[in-house]
Amino acid sequence: MDTQALKGSWHVVAQSGDQVPLFFYSALFLMYPETRGLFPVSMATQRDRLVGALGHVVSNVDRLDDLVPFLQQLGRDHRKFSVVAQHYPAVGQALLATLEHFLGSRWTPALAREWTQAYELVAKVMTEAADESSATSPPWWEGEIILHEVRAPGIAVIRARLNYAYPFRAGQSASISVLLRPRMWRFYSFANAPRRDNTVDLHVRVVDGGTVSTALVHGAQRGDILKIGAPVGDRLTLDTDHPRDLLMIAGGTGLAPFKALVEQTAYEGPRRDVRLFVGARTSRELYDIEAMSKLAAENPWLTVVPVVSHDAFYSGEHGYAVDAALKAWRGQDVFVCGSEEMVQSSVARLLDAGVPPAQIRFDEFTSAGGREQ
Ligand SMILES: Cc1cc2nc3c(=O)[nH]c(=O)nc-3n(C[C@H](O)[C@H](O)[C@H](O)COP(=O)(O)OP(=O)(O)OC[C@H]3O[C@@H](n4cnc5c(N)ncnc54)[C@H](O)[C@@H]3O)c2cc1C
Ligand code: HEM
Repeated sequence: MDTQALKGSWHVVAQSGDQVPLFFYSALFLMYPETRGLFPVSMATQRDRLVGALGHVVSNVDRLDDLVPFLQQLGRDHRKFSVVAQHYPAVGQALLATLEHFLGSRWTPALAREWTQAYELVAKVMTEAADESSATSPPWWEGEIILHEVRAPGIAVIRARLNYAYPFRAGQSASISVLLRPRMWRFYSFANAPRRDNTVDLHVRVVDGGTVSTALVHGAQRGDILKIGAPVGDRLTLDTDHPRDLLMIAGGTGLAPFKALVEQTAYEGPRRDVRLFVGARTSRELYDIEAMSKLAAENPWLTVVPVVSHDAFYSGEHGYAVDAALKAWRGQDVFVCGSEEMVQSSVARLLDAGVPPAQIRFDEFTSAGGREQ
């Protein structure tokens, strides 16, 4: 396969920015109107993830071996959008029409053949993985909200009971949709280690103008049903075979996966020294500090330190969580989780202070999902 031609032509197309998804979706919905119902009612092309991924993945088909695990997960996960194998040729056609439109005279029959073959390969990996998983797991799980507490301005703790067994690992997250905002999926981290009663906890913070976060915090209530995709992510999961001491730095609801890891260590071991620094702008935003302090009182290996950056009246530690954590760094592995901005600045501080990159693990609460691992 001529992968240079694929990459080069995608590079040209991608230069047209938001026009590309705009054209792609118009072509798809015009040629195959039955696919419109799979997508959210209102679609902002600037937050499009499908078209960018299509061009990127298909033109990198020479790395297919590396991409297979990602594509298998993507294919399995596409079941939650109600996508079936018959939809793949439609998306392939719309992709070709888009390429033809933006490449103009550079679009040749030979290039069309390259793109067709590459797309078919990628689609085959995704559809086969989807088919295999349909024998063992539902396309999505449903979770009934059994507890909904707005704990701080714009922050809610939500507990949902799932309808089927849901095997996941502490530190993972899942893509979640709420009935108030149909077909809009966003990632949220589980704030608990797996439980026998099949319940999961979420910590959700409203982002300004945010569609799903606002619906979850201010609209959802007990009795509502959440749709929950398969668990994903291994950036913050623990290596239980080689337990190392940990420094954890949480910003806002970035606390969620760390609470899960603390619970896992408390219930299953192996024990290790864990120091958790919980950052917030004001003391009111320390929405789960009571529960975390209780865990620390029960477990001598755990220290929890709240750190507040913008609250003159707060009597505890002031500043940024990363700076407080650095004072306690004695060679432990460091985990960081929170907003993109918080994670990037904390990781930069850690590297500056000499923490080896191999000892830093982080996950960012960005609006991008389905990342290539
Ligand atoms: C792996 C992963 C795990 C996550 N876990 C959690 C979690 O446990 N708790 C939690 O509260 N959130 C979490 N998030 C973030 C969450 O997925 C959503 O991005 C967030 O709730 C906003 O969605 P929305 O629909 O409300 O905003 P949108 O309607 O998608 O966006 C509205 C506006 O806000 C901007 N925006 C979107 N997301 C963010 C953000 N996170 N920070 C700043 N600006 C943003 C957008 O660019 C846009 O301008 C996680 C994200 C990832 C990728
Ligand atoms: C090679 C094939 C494909 C690739 C690489 C691909 C890639 C992606 C990616 C990376 C996302 C974002 C992931 C997420 O939000 O969880 C996505 C979302 C989506 N995909 Fe695909 N996809 C493919 C085929 C299809 C097909 C055949 C359909 C059916 C029409 C489809 C429908 C969707 C829908 C409905 C979304 C959600 C869009 C949104 O939230 O705005 N995809 N796709």
